[in-house]
Amino acid sequence: MKILVTGGTGYIGSHVAVELINQGHTIEIVDNLSNSQIEVLDKIEQITSTRPVFHEVDLLDQLALDHIFDNTSFDLVIHFAGLKAVAESIEQPLRYYDNNVTSTINLLESMQSHSVKNIIFSSSATVYGDQGVDQCVETMPTGIKLTNPYGKTKYMIEEILKDLAISNPEFSIISLRYFNPIGNHTSGLLGENPNGIPNNLMPYIMKVATGELPELNIFGNDYDTEDGTCLRDYIHVVDLAKGHLAAIDGLKPGFTAYNLGTGRPTSVLEMVHAFEKVSGKPLPHKFAPRRPGDLPKLYANPKKAEQELKWHANLTIEDAIKDTLTFISNK
Ligand code: NAD
Ligand code: UD1
Repeated sequence: MKILVTGGTGYIGSHVAVELINQGHTIEIVDNLSNSQIEVLDKIEQITSTRPVFHEVDLLDQLALDHIFDNTSFDLVIHFAGLKAVAESIEQPLRYYDNNVTSTINLLESMQSHSVKNIIFSSSATVYGDQGVDQCVETMPTGIKLTNPYGKTKYMIEEILKDLAISNPEFSIISLRYFNPIGNHTSGLLGENPNGIPNNLMPYIMKVATGELPELNIFGNDYDTEDGTCLRDYIHVVDLAKGHLAAIDGLKPGFTAYNLGTGRPTSVLEMVHAFEKVSGKPLPHKFAPRRPGDLPKLYANPKKAEQELKWHANLTIEDAIKDTLTFISNK
């Protein structure tokens, strides 16, 4: 297939790019490099021996976007591009709504005017919001008590995609609701490397492991869980990437959402201990107050993807930690 990958130099997009090329697909990447580096293309080429066509374009630029579609006839778009920092989205809501929602509308306009009718969208478990339920299943309603603009953009985009599918039955749309992606390609060439102080657990642990930060703050140890720390569903990014290949085979008319998670909850403390075990070194950590907005337990019911897409996660958090250590040692 000829596939346009938006946000393809980013963390998840670059891993999916590798899997797509390895499966024989021809891809082009569009990214404005607002949160990624051009060197990622070299790494993709190193791993796959193929350098994808790259367009340094902001999806807010409709003319430039149309130009990409004028020149190539795509079978499918996989849409990763977007801003994703929860705290930043609370400080800069308009930027988030514009960058995530407006740019998606632009993309869909370009697709519609060029008769491209297949799209896979990067959504998030965050669309479920706070329903007092630990394990999320696709039959649950979405948009319940969402606490930040980032999460709301994912919910809004899903609503837009549902309406588009109703208006035009030729559209085949899959929304993949990611749980907590961690790890990187086993070569250690690709990975997540945020600037500054990371908000997410694994990038923070990485900076503690390299000595860039002194210790990990574990947010809350008085939750109603076995060890008092929060439970999440950490999924290896390569498993997540393979979920996109399965979604391509599962495209069908209409809007369909799938959870991409392992279904296995892991606590923050379990993650710390696993990291210590795999690395063979202590990871300095201390307990800190709860982080506002955190849910005690959130993990996937992955059965729908297993049954309909014939996909399930194979890799463990230990695999992800091992690959993370390779990435750190390559930096
Ligand atoms: P990332 O920031 O590494 O990648 C996103 C890419 O999109 C970046 O390369 C950035 O430069 C690009 N981009 C942003 N706005 C753009 C625009 N207007 N035009 C063109 N390019 C633009 O993030 P990621 O972790 O790879 O996430 C990919 C997608 O998955 C995002 O939509 C994110 O919200 C979603 N998601 C991520 C996670 C996670 O934990 N990483 C969880 C759930 C959902
Ligand atoms: C967060 C976002 C979610 C987003 C996801 C991926 C919130 C409330 N949710 O999910 O919308 O889709 O990131 O970008 O921000 N933790 C620590 N110490 C740290 C960092 C994290 O103890 O320094 C704990 C958190 O309290 C949480 C767990 O680790 O229990 C995972 O946190 P994180 O990686 O930020 O992911 P989520 O909160 O699940």
